[in-house]
Amino acid sequence: MNKEVHPARALNGTIKLPPDKSISHRSVMFASLHEGRSIIRNFSSAADPHSTIECMRGLGVSVSEDENTVKVKGVGREGLRSPEGDLDCGNSGTTMRLLSGIIAGSGVPARLVGDESLSARTMKRIIDPLTEMGAKITARENDFAPLEISRSGPLKPLHFPLPIPSAQLKSCVLLAGLFGEEQTEVIETLPSRDHTERLLNLTIKEKGEEKHIYSSQGDKIPEQSYRIPNDFSAAAFWLVAGAIHPNAEITLPNVGMNPTRFGALGILKQMGADITVSNKQKEGAEPVADLIVCSSDLQPFKITEEVVPNCIDEIPILMIAMLFANGVSRITGAEELRHKETDRLAAMAEVLEKAGADFTEYEDGFEITGEANFLPEPASYNSYHDHRIAMSAAVLSMMGDHPSQIQHAESTAISYPSFWDDLSLLTN
Ligand code: S3P
Repeated sequence: MNKEVHPARALNGTIKLPPDKSISHRSVMFASLHEGRSIIRNFSSAADPHSTIECMRGLGVSVSEDENTVKVKGVGREGLRSPEGDLDCGNSGTTMRLLSGIIAGSGVPARLVGDESLSARTMKRIIDPLTEMGAKITARENDFAPLEISRSGPLKPLHFPLPIPSAQLKSCVLLAGLFGEEQTEVIETLPSRDHTERLLNLTIKEKGEEKHIYSSQGDKIPEQSYRIPNDFSAAAFWLVAGAIHPNAEITLPNVGMNPTRFGALGILKQMGADITVSNKQKEGAEPVADLIVCSSDLQPFKITEEVVPNCIDEIPILMIAMLFANGVSRITGAEELRHKETDRLAAMAEVLEKAGADFTEYEDGFEITGEANFLPEPASYNSYHDHRIAMSAAVLSMMGDHPSQIQHAESTAISYPSFWDDLSLLTN
């Protein structure tokens, strides 16, 4: 589906954001492993978390849905059963990588498949540690889905300094560790999102710059009954839209404010974005707040390797902000974006090129020379079926003086099913 995006004269309104995708995935997985029922409110209706629900059903867990409330009858660590068919993870890397940890740990044999994009994403990063823990994994070219996972011998504990700052990898190993008699230890030097640790209440020891996280059979898996915060990663599109548009005021209630997720907020504020944070509260294990963004004068910014995990999903939309900041912005240490739903650095280079921006693409990032009154050329932007590229190109298109096209616009449903409706709401 192609979507035409018209220049926006103003951006005003209050947006009901989608529920957090990362927490939605985890809530249903962890509720399945809990012995007893959980009621999860404000569960995401996006495609990715629904892939997780279907996979948990495939493993024998009863999951019912009523609007945004999901009820799970947890079967406990011992209660998963081998699925009759493949577990289809769809487009979702989080589903495939976290579930692989659960399957390897439980020893229940299963075959995990994904769509074309997911089948082209590297799985070696999880295959290696899970194999060390005693799992047997066969994969296409020893790297890609379909993944066939089983285990005949005992589960071995792992001492695992993270080779890349990935929350999916960290969570995968910790989830496998939950089934082991002895403790598995994951060591993190650059902080990535910590929803797994929080929701499972895992033991953490801070040692200097390092965080040591532990999991084992001895950890009680808590009931997962709470309300999921709205998704900060979805909020980021409107935070940038509001900041770069000359006539904007956008209110975003109840946004997840986990410090390992909101790097983009600090970056935008340091760029000069007029963002007000109010009504700070806690929902379950996660902090939330209301955000209001107004038109702003932006300054350039340098994003370096150590902050990348904290804004990994927001880098495409932060690049749009940089286009409207007077001067030279830089992004380095972001090579990991080449391994997302598409090669996001390449896809964004194409967007910037078509818009007529002044930029250089590097292997691990960008240099972007922005100007406050940058006027993107009208274009037909290829999202490469990647939700975050489609939404970034849409925000850029609203700043033009002629309509632009977004190709494969339906991909927004992966994380933000009401994105196009919200865009209309703000512009009308
Ligand atoms: C996620 C972790 C990140 C992020 C993805 C969701 C998660 O991936 O990009 O959208 O829920 O754990 P990596 O851990 O691979 O960086």
